[in-house]
Amino acid sequence: MLVGGRLCYGGDYNPEQWPAEVWQQDVELMRQAGVTLVTVGVFAWSRLEPAPGRYTLDWLDQVLDLLHDGGVQVALATPTASPPPWFSLAHPGALPVTADGVRLHHGSRDTYCAAAPAYRAAARRITGVLAERYARHPAVALWHVHNEYGATCHCRYAEAGFRRWLRDRHGDLDALNDAWTTSFWSQHYSDWAQVSTPRATQYLPNPTQTLDFRRYWSDELLSAYAEQRDLLRAANPAVPVTTNYVLGDWVPVDHGRWATEVDLVAVDHYPSDAGPAAEEQTALAADLARGWARHGAPRRAGPTADGRADAWLLMESAPNLIYTPGRMHTREPGRMARHSLAHVARGSRGAMFFQWRAPRGGAELFHSALVPHAGPDSRVFREAVALGGMLDRIAEVDAGAVEASVAIGWDAASGWALQQRGLPTDRLSHHDEVAATHRALWRAGYTCDPVLPGDPLDRYALLVLPALYLASDATAGWVHDYVHGGGHLVVGYLSGVADEHARIRLGGYPGAFRDVLGVRVEEFHPLADDDEIPLTGGGTGRLWSETVHLAGAEPVRAYAAGALAGSPAVTRHRYGDGVAWYVSTRPDDTTHRSLLTGAALAAGARPACPGAPDGVEAVRRRGPGASWLFLLNHTDRAQRVPATGTDLITGAVAETGLTLPAGQVAVVRERADA
Ligand code: GLA
Repeated sequence: MLVGGRLCYGGDYNPEQWPAEVWQQDVELMRQAGVTLVTVGVFAWSRLEPAPGRYTLDWLDQVLDLLHDGGVQVALATPTASPPPWFSLAHPGALPVTADGVRLHHGSRDTYCAAAPAYRAAARRITGVLAERYARHPAVALWHVHNEYGATCHCRYAEAGFRRWLRDRHGDLDALNDAWTTSFWSQHYSDWAQVSTPRATQYLPNPTQTLDFRRYWSDELLSAYAEQRDLLRAANPAVPVTTNYVLGDWVPVDHGRWATEVDLVAVDHYPSDAGPAAEEQTALAADLARGWARHGAPRRAGPTADGRADAWLLMESAPNLIYTPGRMHTREPGRMARHSLAHVARGSRGAMFFQWRAPRGGAELFHSALVPHAGPDSRVFREAVALGGMLDRIAEVDAGAVEASVAIGWDAASGWALQQRGLPTDRLSHHDEVAATHRALWRAGYTCDPVLPGDPLDRYALLVLPALYLASDATAGWVHDYVHGGGHLVVGYLSGVADEHARIRLGGYPGAFRDVLGVRVEEFHPLADDDEIPLTGGGTGRLWSETVHLAGAEPVRAYAAGALAGSPAVTRHRYGDGVAWYVSTRPDDTTHRSLLTGAALAAGARPACPGAPDGVEAVRRRGPGASWLFLLNHTDRAQRVPATGTDLITGAVAETGLTLPAGQVAVVRERADA
């Protein structure tokens, strides 16, 4: 275990913002709250290296010693997400350039180009200094490289890097011209010097150029990360290294691919919704993190921080107020703990927060903290103390892997490709389609593992592919083999439409999966925002509809009105030893749930706790000789749940079922015969 048999609990700690007297008080409060791990130094570069090559580390020595004496472990960060002012003045060429060609200035964070040699050199230097001094400090349990990689750049270094990357990927210009379909709009390249990053341009940009830039930039950032990781590993191979993923459609990072390069997948999660959707978002974020972790585990080279393939860590979340566009929203009482336990239910090795103590000033001065501006005599700190107690009582669950029998396809490149502007509607996103699928199954009590194309599927009864827009031949083969061998598959519209270069697969959509699905789609009919098409058997389709021809499949639902009336909307096809469903529209949530649960039941997949009432989330973790059922009551009423065993949080023993008070969580160690 990272923190000696306990779950990780704590958050970003910024002692550099406070006088030394406060540090002692911090450690005292951390002990009160049961904090086990804090992230130190994330944005501390200017305090660590106030002038080029001059290092002031005494304060950090003191802080690490204090924390160690107080029994708190440290995720020690490299501070490279926020270069100091002296760096930007000395290296103006390392400041980032936007797609419009505007060079940004110092004044915020992330003001660097990750491809700029001066930045990379400075980042290696400060990392090397920290590695040398702290790699064997007894408080250091984890290295936290950088913070939320994601900032992009279009400067000449990025451009040069992009060309190098393109040469590696495509080999020569002929192949690039072919992959990018440059015969369209006279974009044929005859010299590498003509190829640039996708800068601001007239009208629609080339979609494959944009897609390849996202892929390149993910790799460029990954190499910046790996440089630091290798220095840290070399200094002490026993300390795992990670970086915290930022989630969101805009992020140019292929998190699944990165999962092979980190020793522990770590994500930050801030639900954008203050209502019930926050619970759905939390479950999805946690499942994605676990999916990435599982994808990366067999390929990881470093210390795996304890073996369990699906282990990951919630590195940041908000104790209370969350920044969302326009207005911050409050986390209601009880939700901090419930969401934290939801993450642990889904495989997190604990719950970490941004941040420990609320700052006095600076850009995020109203961001919430475990110790708020009001101080420890506050609801939030009392909830923090209570959460620390709960995490302490349930620590044994860390041995358990999460059980899931449904897989949902996730593909960063499909997400990026569906952000191109030349699509039939701009209402579609891979992320939204994945979220809609996940929501429908979450509401029905199924636990789902996100999988990447090519991942092993033998543990799953059902695979769902929502808007998996890009499919290489290898991906088509992966899907074919799964179904042919007896797997059950549900494919959503806009899947398998294009190849890996975002070129359409001809002969009818969804080109890559036509044979498996036994359908041929002739035309798309995108719907207006307020359009709904009734479906036979009840419910409606939204956003999208298609002219679907049967080519072996049987109709399950048809469009019931409009130009498509009578033609198939949902189909099912027996293929090899398996079954493949096609859903050509976005069903309303209720219909989506009933279609997916129908497919799941037919496939033999089961919810974690059949009979749990709606609004009670149930997830099972299973370890050697034991299983734990997490039950989270998201409703405002007490709920009766058919579970038996011992609730580790209250100590209560449930013989015939358990009554879960409104908003509460139970973590039931199940009886051996469960
Ligand atoms: C991210 C960052 C933190 C902070 C929070 C605010 O997760 O890593 O530094 O900015 O967002 O929500």
